[in-house]
Amino acid sequence: MVEKLRIGIAGLGTVGSEVVTMLQMRAGQLSGQSGRQIEIVGVCARDRTRMRPFTPGPWTWYDTPEALAVAPDVDIFVELIGGEDGPALNAVTLALQHGRHVVTANKALLARHGLELARLAEAGKVALAFEAAVAGGVPVIKMLREGLAGSQINRISGILNGTCNYILSKMETEGLSFADGLAEAQRLGYAEADPTFDIGGFDTAHKLALLTSLAFGTAVDRDAIHIEGIESITLADIRAAAALGFRVKLLGVAERNEHGIEQRVHPTMITHAAPLSQVMGVTNAVSIDADAHQRLTLIGPGAGGKATAAAVMADITDIARGNVPHPFAVPATSLTPGERVPMQAHRGGYYIRMFVEDRPGAFATIATRMAEHGISLESIMQRSGTEHFLGATCVPVVLITHATTEKLVRDALDAVLADGYVSERPQIFRIERE
Ligand SMILES: NC(=O)c1ccc[n+]([C@@H]2O[C@H](COP(=O)([O-])OP(=O)(O)OC[C@H]3O[C@@H](n4cnc5c(N)ncnc54)[C@H](OP(=O)(O)O)[C@@H]3O)[C@@H](O)[C@H]2O)c1
Repeated sequence: MVEKLRIGIAGLGTVGSEVVTMLQMRAGQLSGQSGRQIEIVGVCARDRTRMRPFTPGPWTWYDTPEALAVAPDVDIFVELIGGEDGPALNAVTLALQHGRHVVTANKALLARHGLELARLAEAGKVALAFEAAVAGGVPVIKMLREGLAGSQINRISGILNGTCNYILSKMETEGLSFADGLAEAQRLGYAEADPTFDIGGFDTAHKLALLTSLAFGTAVDRDAIHIEGIESITLADIRAAAALGFRVKLLGVAERNEHGIEQRVHPTMITHAAPLSQVMGVTNAVSIDADAHQRLTLIGPGAGGKATAAAVMADITDIARGNVPHPFAVPATSLTPGERVPMQAHRGGYYIRMFVEDRPGAFATIATRMAEHGISLESIMQRSGTEHFLGATCVPVVLITHATTEKLVRDALDAVLADGYVSERPQIFRIERE
């Protein structure tokens, strides 16, 4: 008779409550799939008196996650508290040190401490599983770690933050301003009262850091990622992009190039033909370019209690089956340091929107500055609308460049600004030929 697998769950909020419910409802299915009976033996949250959306079971309540993490009858410690430090880090560290498997949905924790936690897990020969930490219910971790084992991955790009994708979708489909799109997302509970973490691109960066490590065998390093958010995107940009056959998406991209593994999060223009451009609202998606497969794209719910809990259940089932892989696919000691590839070296096409003073010579000077920096223009368009700056009338102008480098674009724009025809720092988006 195979022994029971005993679970301790710390955090009984949106995700934790769903995990409890699923474990209660699917006990039979789980033991059928894994060959082991799985039961919750301990739980923990901040407030013991709070009403929870599940029927309490015959488990022990623990007052701290740390106490639950080292409880002698816990085989898998499930961390669903959140936060990159504090109780989540302390409890996960203790659990691994005491030989407990860990399942977590906490991308912030792993993006910051993933390497040392992976080392601890490997030293204790236990699992550190985090399917739920990236793209919620989309099984991208397993795909990278197992489905694509043996393939060479050259590029990953993803819509990894539902809040940003929701706001950008609303701007495009309903003509909302950025501020109104954000307010709508907050009203519906898709965005926090302080939305900086999402709209500033940091949440996407945490998830990208994990995907990069799995795909390229580099140590998780969120500091190696160039990060820009979506705050500066205007409706005029969305409309100009649409007129040119593009959509604007906040993408996390990691790709192998001659400089190393370039990791970046920024608003990106992609053509309507790209699978990622069809992903609207809070949905997440990840495209992976692997040598033999060319492109694989996974699309699905990136958040929400049920979808995220399903990913936690998949990790628990895996452990019950005896599947204890290296957390980042290869031994943590063999992960190579992830060096930051300078964004100045990025090569690609650019969208540049600027307000140009409406007087003779302005267009010609801009075109000259671009040519002086070796930048070839695919198109130059004057868009409708005007703006007044220091008494002058300015018109919006959009340039689309052929492939060039970020450094040349920045240098050319510095020269354009110095000429004094432009009213404010130009908006630039990288164009991805997805
Ligand atoms: N929500 C999603 O859609 C989603 C998607 C993907 C990943 N995740 C990740 O899943 C994790 C949990 O997210 P969530 O949305 O479920 O969060 P949540 O609803 O805020 O729940 C957090 C839980 O942690 C408990 N908690 C907080 N501090 C604690 C402490 N010091 N000691 C013990 N318990 C403590 C809270 O207790 P009380 O209930 O008593 O306050 C609550 O039950 C996070 O890492 C998040 O990034 C969430």
